[in-house]
Amino acid sequence: MITEEKNIEQLNNQIRFISHEIRNNLSICDMYSQIIKRNLEKDGVQNSSVNNAIDCIQKSLQIICANLMDLKSIDCTEHKLYDFEKTLLRGVELSKAYTEDKEIDFEVFIKNSANILIDENRYISCIINIIKNGIEAIDMMGKITVLAEIKDGYAVVKISNNGKPIPKDKQDKIFEIGYTSKTSGSGLGLGICKKYLSSMGANIKLIKSGKAETQFEISVPIN
Ligand SMILES: Nc1ncnc2c1ncn2[C@@H]1O[C@H](COP(=O)(O)OP(=O)(O)OP(=O)(O)O)[C@@H](O)[C@H]1O
Ligand SMILES: [Mg+2]
Repeated sequence: MITEEKNIEQLNNQIRFISHEIRNNLSICDMYSQIIKRNLEKDGVQNSSVNNAIDCIQKSLQIICANLMDLKSIDCTEHKLYDFEKTLLRGVELSKAYTEDKEIDFEVFIKNSANILIDENRYISCIINIIKNGIEAIDMMGKITVLAEIKDGYAVVKISNNGKPIPKDKQDKIFEIGYTSKTSGSGLGLGICKKYLSSMGANIKLIKSGKAETQFEISVPIN
């Protein structure tokens, strides 16, 4: 076998092995989170914050599974109708995990809702990527604002933060794959958002970035 084919086969095997092991461990996380949920219910424990955390873990596991399918080039994207408000709120809840020890105030205003045709996992991943960037731009204390509405045939979300702004001369580079200003960043988040959203006929853009706030807008057409 020629070297190039051998390399591709090795790479394919590596992908299959790693996917297999990730899936095994995802199943363990999924099973134990279900056990925790069941036991809390059995003991009559009503704790909305724990329930929310478990729901977030389970949604996150589903997103990882979808990513593993992508890795195997199996198209499991599912464009279905989802409630705009509910899906957005799920993304916001998942993103809060990135707050860690920062003091971040989340303000969410959703004016109205409708069903939108999206791949749920990909849409939520975009919301997470944008809010995660917002949290990372905030030093220790700040605010993330999410404004959403159905307007002129689009489901529009504006996500802002009051952290360090993006320099003017870098603003047209931020969607490029590999562009990062962070020591531990990979410069993939916004590129992934662009790709995922365009596959849904949707769009993302930077509205503004200055001292007061940085704001991104995601708009999905309503059919
Ligand atoms: N809300 C924001 N506030 C300030 N800068 C931002 C914001 N969003 C994006 N940026 C800038 O755009 C760059 C690219 O963002 P992107 O999400 O693509 O990659 P990253 O965050 O650096 O790495 P990762 O792959 O982990 O997401 C960031 O490094 C940062 O400089
Ligand atoms: Mg990022």
